[in-house]
Amino acid sequence: MSHANEMTDPPTDATDVASPPSSEAPRSRAGASLRAYLEPRRQRVERGLADFLGFGGRRPLELHAAMRYAVLGDGKRLRPILCIAGAEVCGGGMEDVLPTACALELIHACSLVHDDLPALDGDELRRGQPSCHARFGPGIALLAGDALFSQAFELLVEQRRLSGASRTLDALAVITGATGTDGMVAGQVEDMLHEGKPGDEVTLEFIHTRKAGALIRAALVCGGLLVGGDESRIAALGACGGALGHAFQVVDDILGESGDPAALGKPVGADRQRGKLTYPALLGLERSWVVAGRLVDEALEAVAGLGPAAEPLRELARYVLERAR
Ligand code: IPE
Ligand code: IPE
Ligand code: MG
Ligand code: MG
Repeated sequence: MSHANEMTDPPTDATDVASPPSSEAPRSRAGASLRAYLEPRRQRVERGLADFLGFGGRRPLELHAAMRYAVLGDGKRLRPILCIAGAEVCGGGMEDVLPTACALELIHACSLVHDDLPALDGDELRRGQPSCHARFGPGIALLAGDALFSQAFELLVEQRRLSGASRTLDALAVITGATGTDGMVAGQVEDMLHEGKPGDEVTLEFIHTRKAGALIRAALVCGGLLVGGDESRIAALGACGGALGHAFQVVDDILGESGDPAALGKPVGADRQRGKLTYPALLGLERSWVVAGRLVDEALEAVAGLGPAAEPLRELARYVLERAR
């Protein structure tokens, strides 16, 4: 990919990016060992996604082009990598969960395409490029999102060849729960309904743990489930994923208010303009960093007993506080 990938590229000058107060977290980017962990997994996922979205020149060309555009841009591939990390914590590896890892990225890409539509956030920039509707029009973008969601289930079903039907169905149940009316869609609806309205921390937690947190949690849990992780490990992954997903969205709010748009690849200040209920809007930046730090501590605590196999996951969790995009 031609775009710089901040999660995996060597650190550059970080003085222009938003940062937590120095007491809360160091002002650095992904360290060398985390980059060495992320890079091969990101590359494998990118290859899997590109292969899956080939479509062999089939019609409708415009739809397939929009789907590739939405997925193959400069994303961090966090959810696929978390799925792989979940599998590794339970004794599996990257190839064991690749279809599901890729499916999670398709679902995520669908959510981004729909989230950017004028009917929702109305954002014209995503991953440093015109958002899908800005490039292809809202009709194609809407349908490309639908198609990405649907194609994700083709991959999820394909997973049974690697994991067997029973484990695959368990993972499917987790993913449908995380994306439906108790998960991502619920969070997106309440996010939309609270625009320009007063809110409280209970509501914010409801929104953030669902619109973003649920799929992140599901990614970790599915990775473990698909390779036959035992109950206590799955529970630890669930607790870690819940806190980490929540923290991730708190930091998304913070970066959306005070980050560097060039690093983020999406607009800064748009939440404020739309009157979004965010952590910085409710608590201010400093207290938002404190909340994010507390949640990452919670995520770390949940996997403290899982030994060296969980170290990359712990590094990823810490990185959530240090990311610039
Ligand atoms: C952005 O997610 C949307 C949220 C749920 C916060 P990411 O920050 O993972 O976006 P990409 O995939 O790297 O573009
Ligand atoms: C994104 O939330 C959540 C989903 C796409 C499901 P936001 O609207 O806060 O994320 P960005 O800032 O546009 O990526
Ligand atoms: Mg949104
Ligand atoms: Mg948005």
